[in-house]
Amino acid sequence: MEKRELLYEGKAKKLYTTENPDQLIAEFKDDLTAFNAEKKGSEQGKGALNCQISDRLFRLLEANGIETHLVETLDQNHQLVKKVEIIPIEVVVRNIATGSLSKRLGIEDGKELPFVLVEFYLKDDDLNDPIICDDHCLLLDLVEDRGELEVLREKARKINDVLKDFFAKRRLNLVDFKVEFGKDQAGDILLSDEISPDSCRFWDMDTGEKMDKDRFRQNLGSVKVAYEEVLKRILEEKK
Ligand code: TMP
Ligand code: ASP
Repeated sequence: MEKRELLYEGKAKKLYTTENPDQLIAEFKDDLTAFNAEKKGSEQGKGALNCQISDRLFRLLEANGIETHLVETLDQNHQLVKKVEIIPIEVVVRNIATGSLSKRLGIEDGKELPFVLVEFYLKDDDLNDPIICDDHCLLLDLVEDRGELEVLREKARKINDVLKDFFAKRRLNLVDFKVEFGKDQAGDILLSDEISPDSCRFWDMDTGEKMDKDRFRQNLGSVKVAYEEVLKRILEEKK
């Protein structure tokens, strides 16, 4: 399968059309952005690492009954994916308070939450991805009905159950993450975009070290070294 026309360029990926109208090629870029692209950078090989990490995680989730857009990973930084219409809601799942949750609500950084928190943010850079509630989602026609929001929450919680356990076995604490969903031609809701250290927070269970994009956000050192370690642990065989 070959890339044809550039359909869309986001901050971390480019999407190309292919000869199959139902499939696209996603190219993972080395670019790093934070704070709605106010801070920009790049590390050679970052895109390839995220492509490999997301490939493993999407396949793990498929094996656990979560449908995804992934068809196959083609090479280091390209994936063949099903064409979907992205639902413009960034679904954030949190196990531990940090980041914008601590900032917005004053919850102590690092505090374990008494239950898994699922939040919706509007995927709109011009508006700086504001947090939104169910009624906002309906008001903006982001989904068809409240039932679809429940589906998003349910899938997000299931993804968390699978990934939290998977990473705990690899001594990484899954602190929080963001996922995006899309609808295919049949109207099925598929996990889309990517799951990588760009879109998750991982804290090393033994050292507390941050192993994700917070390294870039907070100038904590090489992103690539940490992402390589995350991939290495993902590839470890565990029972
Ligand atoms: P936050 O604490 O900044 O709201 O981030 C929550 C999670 O979502 C964290 O794992 C990082 C991820 N995230 C993205 O993937 N993209 C974004 O644009 C933002 C703001 C956060
Ligand atoms: N993804 C957002 C940006 O690129 C924000 C972030 O991840 O911190 O600006």
